[in-house]
Amino acid sequence: MGGSNKAGKHPMLKAITCGLLLLFAAIITPAQPAASAFDAASKVFRLDGGNVSYLFGVNPRGELQQLYWGGKLAATDNFKQAVPLREAASFDSSYTTTPQEYAGWGAGLYVEPALKVTFAEGNRDLVLHYDSHELTQNGVNVVLKDIKRYVFVTLHYSIDPESGILARLATIENREPQPVRVEEAAAAAWSLPPAHYSLNYLTGRWAGEWTLNQETLHPGERVIESRRGSTGHQANPWFAIQTGDPDEEHGEVWFGALAWSGSWRITFEQDQLDAVRVVGGFNPFDFGYVLHPGQSLETPIFYGGYSSHGLGGASRLLHRFEISQILPRRVGTGPSAAPKPRPVIYNSWEATEMNVTEAGQIALAEKAAALGVDRFVMDDGWFGQRKTDHAGLGDWYVNSEKFPHGLKPLIDKVHSLHMDFGLWVEPEMVNPDSDLYRKHPEWVLNMPGRPRSEARNQLVLNLARPDVRAYVLSFLDKLLTENDIAFLKWDYNRNWSEPGWDQLPPTEQKKVYVEFTRNLYFILAELKRRHPKVELESCSGGGGRVDLGILKYADEVWPSDNTDPFDRLTQQDGFTYPYTAQVMMAWVTDSPHWLNKRSTSLTYRMLSSMQGSLGIGANITKWTDEETATVKRLIASYHEAQPTIVQGDLYRLISPRNGSEFSATQTVNRGKSQSVVFAFIHSTQEGRTFPKLKLKGLDPAAQYAVTPIDGKLQPGSPEVASGAYWMNHGMDMSEEFRGDFQGAAFRLDKK
Ligand code: DGJ
Repeated sequence: MGGSNKAGKHPMLKAITCGLLLLFAAIITPAQPAASAFDAASKVFRLDGGNVSYLFGVNPRGELQQLYWGGKLAATDNFKQAVPLREAASFDSSYTTTPQEYAGWGAGLYVEPALKVTFAEGNRDLVLHYDSHELTQNGVNVVLKDIKRYVFVTLHYSIDPESGILARLATIENREPQPVRVEEAAAAAWSLPPAHYSLNYLTGRWAGEWTLNQETLHPGERVIESRRGSTGHQANPWFAIQTGDPDEEHGEVWFGALAWSGSWRITFEQDQLDAVRVVGGFNPFDFGYVLHPGQSLETPIFYGGYSSHGLGGASRLLHRFEISQILPRRVGTGPSAAPKPRPVIYNSWEATEMNVTEAGQIALAEKAAALGVDRFVMDDGWFGQRKTDHAGLGDWYVNSEKFPHGLKPLIDKVHSLHMDFGLWVEPEMVNPDSDLYRKHPEWVLNMPGRPRSEARNQLVLNLARPDVRAYVLSFLDKLLTENDIAFLKWDYNRNWSEPGWDQLPPTEQKKVYVEFTRNLYFILAELKRRHPKVELESCSGGGGRVDLGILKYADEVWPSDNTDPFDRLTQQDGFTYPYTAQVMMAWVTDSPHWLNKRSTSLTYRMLSSMQGSLGIGANITKWTDEETATVKRLIASYHEAQPTIVQGDLYRLISPRNGSEFSATQTVNRGKSQSVVFAFIHSTQEGRTFPKLKLKGLDPAAQYAVTPIDGKLQPGSPEVASGAYWMNHGMDMSEEFRGDFQGAAFRLDKK
């Protein structure tokens, strides 16, 4: 019997086993405090992960007060009980200046609240105090309760052991006998002590997404938001706050990203004592979520991280976190597996727009296969009566004029060419000129008796409705069941208007802001469950729906409809502040470019796109043999180094922003055995040569051989040199590397 064997073990054997176990425990147990801990004497919670510590505690008033967020503290560093800030003046109540983890709007709170409610009888005062807590493996759930009323808020914290990135969300529960209306609900509030800070955030517009804004934080509120029902092109739910001026490689940075693809808001507020609070969650504009007795509302997750290595360090942490914790995993791999690098795709949109036909697509597919493309994607135009953007959306049957035998002949042909097949859909939309709208005019977002504002001749289906959710899920399920489809490009080409939901009683209709997005996530999760091999791209007329919420389901995103290779350099620079190149699709399209009418060489276009997840979107049937050979060669080089490019640590060596003459990026894989460098010239002026590129992140003691992907180094440059050489001496581009819109790329491999 196992039990008697164990009990009967020889004492010497027992001692050796015990010693080995202790040794093993010492090896695997890092000398650091548990990821989450609570000190009952001081009432302090402590979370440790990566190089980060996060501490907060219950102050004598009962509020949950932030104590510290920054670089890792020693295990021996003990904190005393949190002390609320004193009343600095009768105008600065302690309730408002004390950095609370999650403040209700009540008492004398003048800063942005995390939660604002109205009780059934009109009372609106909400003061949240500590109630209880429960430690979890890498975090803690802390329950707060109003000082009188039965509104409970559970704050969920967890910290990623590797990156130290915190995930925070709140669950608001009504245990009152009457309904409670939630008017503002943040996922989290982050606090920073008084200092001089710069704020980094991203704004944009259609075809002009990903503009990095860097400004000094001033007293008052700075708000970034979307009121559009989806994430939006105009601002992205990410921020980075740095002490002092923005610096790519040095200095302390606190950053955050909200995982929500509906209307959202993040406020940055420097209070009258210069402390900073960042509050983010559902956009409170037009918000109102009624909680009936016993009901609860869960907020999205607000991720927050810290780096002492500047904005570049913050990006690298976030990229690694996205790859290991957020993105959908490759089917059938273990929990620590990274998602697989994206297949190189061909997409038909810029070549054919909606004029897709079986013969035309087959011609493109044959050429794409010859280039070394892995996946062929047919874009808009294959369904319903879709000839222009005036009709067809909603009617998800194959257009029999364009595809008389259905999709099968095309899909079979694509497979015979050793590519997999992807298809464009826009499931949440409907053209008024469609069978679906004629049958179900009540299915769209609308306010009865009011006009239904169109954009791109389409209306938004109210995905919050159970019947609409069921319809969308069933047509997609059918499409994926009946056809061998590996990939869906999920598009979304307008924002909301008249966001009514007249199925519900008037007081409940604003729930649309939550339920729409939740149903979107439900459908995506369910499709992945039913069709685990199918991959998804989130597209919204370009980069209008990119956030950590959608990235739990989407394997990649379309950053912009602007495929101009020069514009893309700046867009890609901005995009990579929050998001990994793994998800950043980048197509090579025709020249002159349709948007800017700019002409660029094919090599420049290829190199610009090769910094992300590569795709081809040109009319490749027109390419010459020479062009075909160039692209084939570069796709092959890309395949060789792709994991390093898209999943390695990114160093933005020279920014293309602010009209820079030059730009350069470098990526280094985890093992530091490979690195890839991309360099670009906008337009050489006054004969200037490209600056010496001092590389980063290499192993100084290792030897690296350099191989040109395209371009030349200065004659006399070593072919093999140490990491120390490439980082300290730097890489010299050939003096011939001059001109307008020039690109070069090199691979370094450890010997
Ligand atoms: C907008 C997308 O961003 C484009 O790539 C393309 O798919 C069109 N929609 C199709 O209508």
